[in-house]
Amino acid sequence: MGDLEKWRDEFPILARTVYLISNSLGAMPRRAAQNLSAYAEAWATRGVRAWEERWWEMPLEVGNKIARIVGAPDGSVSMHENVTTAHLVALSCEGPSGTRRRIVCSAMDFPSMIYLFRAQEANGFELKVVPGADDLTVDTARLLDTIDESTAVVAFSHVLFRTSRIMEAMAIARRAREVGATVILDTCQSAGIIPVDVTSLGVDFAVGGCLKWLCGGPGAAFLYTRPDRLKSARPSVTGWLSRSAPFAFDIGPDDVPRADAMRMMNGTPSIPAYYAALAGLDIIAEIGVDAIRAKSRRMTARLLALVDTHSAEGFSSAAPRDPERLAGTVAIDVPDAPLVARTSASASASRRTSTTRWTRSIASSPKPRRSSRSGIMPRHRYGRSSLDAAVRSIGHRDFARNDWPRARQTPEPREVPDKREDADEDHELGAVAHARLRQHVPHQPERRLRPADGPHRSVKVPTLVSLAFGRRLHPR
Ligand SMILES: Cc1ncc(COP(=O)(O)O)c(C=O)c1O
Repeated sequence: MGDLEKWRDEFPILARTVYLISNSLGAMPRRAAQNLSAYAEAWATRGVRAWEERWWEMPLEVGNKIARIVGAPDGSVSMHENVTTAHLVALSCEGPSGTRRRIVCSAMDFPSMIYLFRAQEANGFELKVVPGADDLTVDTARLLDTIDESTAVVAFSHVLFRTSRIMEAMAIARRAREVGATVILDTCQSAGIIPVDVTSLGVDFAVGGCLKWLCGGPGAAFLYTRPDRLKSARPSVTGWLSRSAPFAFDIGPDDVPRADAMRMMNGTPSIPAYYAALAGLDIIAEIGVDAIRAKSRRMTARLLALVDTHSAEGFSSAAPRDPERLAGTVAIDVPDAPLVARTSASASASRRTSTTRWTRSIASSPKPRRSSRSGIMPRHRYGRSSLDAAVRSIGHRDFARNDWPRARQTPEPREVPDKREDADEDHELGAVAHARLRQHVPHQPERRLRPADGPHRSVKVPTLVSLAFGRRLHPR
């Protein structure tokens, strides 16, 4: 049993699925449920007293746990509801001035940020988006050349969400410093899966979320502010949590902001999300990111080797082949990805059907590149055999021979809006080779493929297509 195998039991979903989608939503630790029930208990029994007993300072309690994972000192990490908001708070400390008005980012950054940065043009910023390269990465030299004295802010992803490429953060941060620009580092795809040290990188701000590799669930995102910047930070997105005497309700201009990271906060924080996030942070601190990284490297290497094994069937991956540059995700392009998604979804076996015991499932990536793709995200708690099974499943000959041709005959799905509420436990528990389509796969039963001869049952197809393979598709 590998060193990390013992942690499997801490993640209930691993008992029923091969969960490979931590780059989207990390698996829930068992202890998160206990912590959430402690939250309910505090609310039920302590009522408003819970604020002074724990809740008010809880952003710092959680922020300090994150700080230890990302190389930040205690008191430098504040909590926010999502990464976009954390970016906004950091940006709100900056302002365009004179000829220094540019925000430099890259086309490979997460789109939510680019929407936010572009919206800052209304405040006098100018946005410069460095284009992506053909291989879905960003040319570092080109990015460095773009950063000059007109740059106010350089905002970039530590790890690119499409390819899991690790950016040359040190060089980019150094260049920004040389020209006097502020750096905001997005650690959403790096914190918890590769070593991150915001102090040695010397960035002004770092943002990230607990919901992915930190296994903390949605609603808990963070912002690191370099201690020297924190002393004078005056975010324009602010509120009473940032004040040193919030209950004085003093509205005069002289009221004093807090000296620690809560200075970067604003209104009432998302307390339940903090309870949910604690377990993952504790587990990751206990395992240590170095051990996670070592295991993850072995798993990503194995997946890439399997992709190569299936290259004749048209499998490929844009993941960097240099292990030093690859973080935790291997996104696999499969031939006819939309058809795979539709077929697999419809061929999936419901937990409630007789095929249940034959169903093995794998959850993987919703991250699209230009065309549809399936992604498989290995991380530290999966055994080699389940990874192999995952890849063999999506490359299985029967699947290719029998189901893809059949899928081709099914009508193209039309575009439908997200309907997450339609997603049921089938997809949460029964997911394989998750091919996120450019067009969403519809939920209507009549659009599902119903193989005449297989043991498969149709299941609801969630908007983010999750797939489960039935017996026939599963390698023995
Ligand atoms: C690099 C990166 N940044 C940010 C986000 C998410 O941002 P938010 O928490 O605002 O939804 C993601 C989500 O996948 C991401 O990959």
